[in-house]
Amino acid sequence: MRLWEKTYSQTEALLSQYGSPLYVYEKGQIITQVKLFDSNLGVVVGKGVKNYFAVKALPNPHILSILYQAGMGFDCSSLPEVHLAHKAGASGEDIIYTSNNTTIEELTEASADGAMINFDDLSLVQKFIDCNHQPLPIAFCRYNPGDIEFVGLNQSIIGKPSEAKYGMPKDQIMKAYKLLKDSGVRRFGLHTMLLSNELDYKNHLRIARLLFELAIEIADKLNIKFEKINLGGGFGLAYSPDQHDFDIRTYGKELSKLYKQLDMQRAGSPQIITENGRWVTGDSGYLITKVINQKNTHRKYIGVDATMANLMRPGMYGAYHHISLLSGRTDFDLNKVETVDVVGSLCENNDKFAVQRELPVTKEGDIIIIHSAGAHGHAMGFQYNGKLRSAEVLLSDSSSELIRRAETEVDYFATLV
Ligand SMILES: Cc1ncc(COP(=O)(O)O)c(C=O)c1O
Repeated sequence: MRLWEKTYSQTEALLSQYGSPLYVYEKGQIITQVKLFDSNLGVVVGKGVKNYFAVKALPNPHILSILYQAGMGFDCSSLPEVHLAHKAGASGEDIIYTSNNTTIEELTEASADGAMINFDDLSLVQKFIDCNHQPLPIAFCRYNPGDIEFVGLNQSIIGKPSEAKYGMPKDQIMKAYKLLKDSGVRRFGLHTMLLSNELDYKNHLRIARLLFELAIEIADKLNIKFEKINLGGGFGLAYSPDQHDFDIRTYGKELSKLYKQLDMQRAGSPQIITENGRWVTGDSGYLITKVINQKNTHRKYIGVDATMANLMRPGMYGAYHHISLLSGRTDFDLNKVETVDVVGSLCENNDKFAVQRELPVTKEGDIIIIHSAGAHGHAMGFQYNGKLRSAEVLLSDSSSELIRRAETEVDYFATLV
């Protein structure tokens, strides 16, 4: 049973036990997504595609260990994320370290832990070689093509490549591989991340073609072989009911075709990897919150006990999250609707989960379920206005397990000296 199929009293029982607002993740839905990934991409070009889950999307070791046991690796962007991946059981080349504007100390520590290092900049390659006299077992470089002919749907999240701080243009990436080769590296990977929340599989294929062609060119010019090509994350989620799901089936088939068509043997028959976060856990997670106030001024406002500090995406880039309502009232009528803004209590006017949304007429005590919050949700939480982060709960069949307690005021004061 999905969370939104539960009754008011079942959901209310969760809030009474763990507090409101509350993040809830469905274990069954996470496993469904992993299986969907494997059944469609597990057979691509014989070797299969391996996903390195982007830890930043949902950095909870309980969830990470489900993904690790199901065969995923981890994409980490900081040392604490590497340590979280270790808690989930991962080590060595189960982890790829993709960071930007990084210190050499950090890269050195991640590589000493055995993680695969992904260089974001030519200057970092040189600094790393100068400071570390053992060659890396395997090295990736991140490509930034500058302006490309096609754009993804969600430029507001990822930015235009020519304006993005990530990765290296072609001339620099050539120099980076040359430096790495000369330093003794013999195993190579290539990476880019140019799309975010992209539902059109054709755009993902365009990225694959871009990287495959570049890998062949680099392999040719520098006489190196690529062991892995990392196509990045960014598989899209259907956040709103009128959107279609990402067509992973066709993508898998077309990716296989492309790999054969371009004869990737020429680049060393690399394994394809990805670092999807959102697509894996996004749909499994919900932010549950209670209606605490209603206000009628120039607009009608529904005040809830969660704020943008619990879920930043709508306020930060106008992201849509579907909302459904549960009520214990006998007079609750799903067909009686009104247009409202759903707001938190932050002293920021973009603290809104929905703007001018048509929702069933609600009253204090009703429960609002904010859908698709299982990636880049709790993880992006903050404490502005003294707002404390909520608990996280994992639901499996009929049981629930606390996987992170709610913050208390003691936590809020813990770092003061
Ligand atoms: C380098 C990198 N990889 C992977 C991801 C995961 O993206 P998504 O969760 O949209 O798949 C991100 C998202 O910020 C990222 O910056």
